[in-house]
Amino acid sequence: MSTFWSLWIIVLTVGSIIASWWLIWATGRMRNPDEADEETTGHEWDGIREYNNPMPRWWVNLFYLTIIFSVGYLILYPGLGNFAGVLGWTQEGQYEDEVAEFEERMEPLFSGFREMELTELAEDETALAHGRAVFGNFCATCHGSDARGARGFPNLRDAQWQWGSTPEDILHSIKHGREGVMPGWGDQLGDRGVTETAVYVQQLAGRSADPMLARAGQRHYQQLCASCHGPEGRGMVQLGAPDLTNNLWVYGSSFEAISNAIRNGLHGAMPGHEPIIGEDRSRLVAAYVLSMMEEVPESGNSED
Ligand code: HEC
Ligand code: HEC
Repeated sequence: MSTFWSLWIIVLTVGSIIASWWLIWATGRMRNPDEADEETTGHEWDGIREYNNPMPRWWVNLFYLTIIFSVGYLILYPGLGNFAGVLGWTQEGQYEDEVAEFEERMEPLFSGFREMELTELAEDETALAHGRAVFGNFCATCHGSDARGARGFPNLRDAQWQWGSTPEDILHSIKHGREGVMPGWGDQLGDRGVTETAVYVQQLAGRSADPMLARAGQRHYQQLCASCHGPEGRGMVQLGAPDLTNNLWVYGSSFEAISNAIRNGLHGAMPGHEPIIGEDRSRLVAAYVLSMMEEVPESGNSED
């Protein structure tokens, strides 16, 4: 805050406090006892006249107390422009203290987990309970509370792993994030080409497909897609290009969804979580993800 605005706030705040004090003092003063009983506000209703008597003393004193409180508060805590208050209290400071205290309490627990492999953690009930809590807080918004994902957000329980399924791959995905980029091919392929290629992709996934269209699509595929998805469609973990043969889909299994992916391209981004949750919690949630894996996936790498 610049000095000007700081002074502005100080003048306004102190001014208001002084004005409140004066107002209470001026209106709360006892008037001459002789006339005090006689003066009315001029309001009359059904013969009842409203007297203009001063407020009771204890009531006025309460007002003074609130003013004294505010002055004390402004001396101790931040409130007057740039003045930080003599206690040096800040919101961030309180938050950091609480976080540090929490970390200190968790430290003995976490240091035990640090010695364990991810695969061991995935069998440890206590570790999994912590991993589940982290997942609920940081991952469920995108991957769903059951980790089954949604369109564009991968299912973490199925056999499809764009970026690899080893404990190290999963930990890497969590800590550093992942960004899948597939360019769109609509301009190059035209509507017919997109349809043919989509039909071929369905055939790759083992679904029934028109053989004529699929044959044409296969030519497009070898030319444009094989470099990333592999000549047999088995995907490539280095690029995050999914296996297209397993009939498991991140972006939807319908013909429209597949055509759309081919026409417009895709760009999924998983934010890196190490800066947010740190190393210990990344490992715990990775173990939790490992523990949920329902099928042991084959390596989806076209090179093997
Ligand atoms: C903002 C949404 C978002 C959040 C939050 C998020 N993810 Fe992701 N995650 C994604 C997206 C999108 C992808 C797919 C990236 C791509 O297209 O390549 C992904 C990919 C992954 C992958 C790789 C999947 C594969 O098939 O290889 C793992 C593992 C993963 N996330 C785990 C987690 C965990 C654990 C958390 C919580 C710590 C988390 N994600 C939080 C959106 C998110
Ligand atoms: C530059 C590498 C690259 C090329 C070339 C490429 N893709 Fe992809 N493809 C990807 C990546 C990476 C993803 C995952 C996108 C994401 O995570 O958001 C993907 C995703 C897809 C998906 C969605 C899969 C799902 O699980 O929902 C389909 C379908 C697909 N590609 C088909 C094709 C076809 C057909 C071609 C050729 C016309 C092609 N791709 C060319 C990299 C590529």
